[in-house]
Amino acid sequence: MLKHPRAARPVSEQVAVAPRYGLENLTIPRHELPADELSPDVAYQIVHDELMLDGNARLNTATFVTTWMEPQADRLMAECFDKNMIDKDEYPQTAELESRCVHILSRLWHAPDPRQATGCSTTGSSEAAMLGGLALKRRWQKRRTAAGASTDRPNLVMGINVQVCWEKFANYWDVEMRLVPMDGDRYHLNAEEAVKLCDENTIGVVAVLGSTFDGSYEPVAEICAALDDLQQRTGVDVPVHVDGASGAFIAPFLDPELEWDFRLPRVASINTSGHKYGLVYPGVGWIVWRDAQALPEDLIFWVNYLGDDMPTFALNFSRPGAQVAAQYYNFLRLGFAGYTRVQGYARDVATRMSAQIAELGPFELITRGDELPVFAVKLREQVTNFTVFDVSQALRERGWQVPAYTFPKNREDLAALRIVVRRGFTHDLADMLVEDLRRALQRLEKQPVPTHDASTASGFHH
Ligand SMILES: Cc1ncc(COP(=O)(O)O)c(C=O)c1O
Repeated sequence: MLKHPRAARPVSEQVAVAPRYGLENLTIPRHELPADELSPDVAYQIVHDELMLDGNARLNTATFVTTWMEPQADRLMAECFDKNMIDKDEYPQTAELESRCVHILSRLWHAPDPRQATGCSTTGSSEAAMLGGLALKRRWQKRRTAAGASTDRPNLVMGINVQVCWEKFANYWDVEMRLVPMDGDRYHLNAEEAVKLCDENTIGVVAVLGSTFDGSYEPVAEICAALDDLQQRTGVDVPVHVDGASGAFIAPFLDPELEWDFRLPRVASINTSGHKYGLVYPGVGWIVWRDAQALPEDLIFWVNYLGDDMPTFALNFSRPGAQVAAQYYNFLRLGFAGYTRVQGYARDVATRMSAQIAELGPFELITRGDELPVFAVKLREQVTNFTVFDVSQALRERGWQVPAYTFPKNREDLAALRIVVRRGFTHDLADMLVEDLRRALQRLEKQPVPTHDASTASGFHH
């Protein structure tokens, strides 16, 4: 399968090996396995040079994923590159660190009995969402079967702002997606609309802590309260899964009073991305259930672990162990106070930068970065001679990657820019970005008509 839009571009079938003296005329095939070996230095140079055109990760305000870790974490990860997470028998200490991380998260999210923590690491929030969704579906099937009712038409209720992983879940596991559209200034799910879509075939409601579109928190407690009321009125009992891909690593530190986690009895499971605000390089997510009952036994497989049986629940079998070691390193290294400082700094940068951008004149804030350290801005209605897509393009000329995109159903008219502030993005970098934006505006304000629209935008995929 090769469907990348750029794959169709006419390119030579040969790759030049020119960067090294004496190899000026040497080429290797681009799309075929070369017939013979290359020296490691030459092979390294070719791959290294090819990657020069990738963007600079530190200037990428599109991604939520970690782009900076400490050198000690780099070293630890390099030491663990060869460890396979599934080989619990060969690497019992890596398995132990995974288990400690699950306990730490379970406690951080107020599970009723964190000593019985139930959960696992995954490749990211997408895999975690699949596992969370599967547990919801299986529990619903069991309840329905026990009641002698049909299990033909499961549905899952969520806002249209959910990340694409939920669309994948619904598609791969034959679950109807019931989407609450955006409405006016409401850009995410609310309690009233969520409950309207629930019925006896609803396996759960997904509430997102930290919407991918604008960084806003969905009102998890209100959604749970409305579902409590639904149960009282109709007997229909719908559990909630919190997609905390980003927010489950922000709210515990910066909004400790906010009840969005297992303090709410209706919350059955929570996923997060260790590789987002968990501050680990790409390749690790987490899912935790409130207790063992929330994860049906028959979804669990058993692997041999030091002569014992160890439960696993995962889509892949082999998976890198390095990210799990790095997650545990961060937990030790930062502790509660350290995570609070790092996330607090990101939120400071986001709120200060959003205020500066609001003062530039043509922009209006959709969010200000005071929930996730992420904010979205749109252009004022009076601005007709340039678009957010023009702004995104102009910033790219200086190396900044600031995605522009249109909102989904019912607000397709709304086009926005989104900035994700992560560890490694300092006040200083933010000032430079705002300065470049100011300079770009001087040019854009003089142009007669827009030059870019949604069809030429790169958008965001996170
Ligand atoms: C709310 C939300 N859920 C799920 C995901 C998917 O996460 P991952 O990239 O870890 O698979 C994202 C990614 O941005 C997200 O923002």
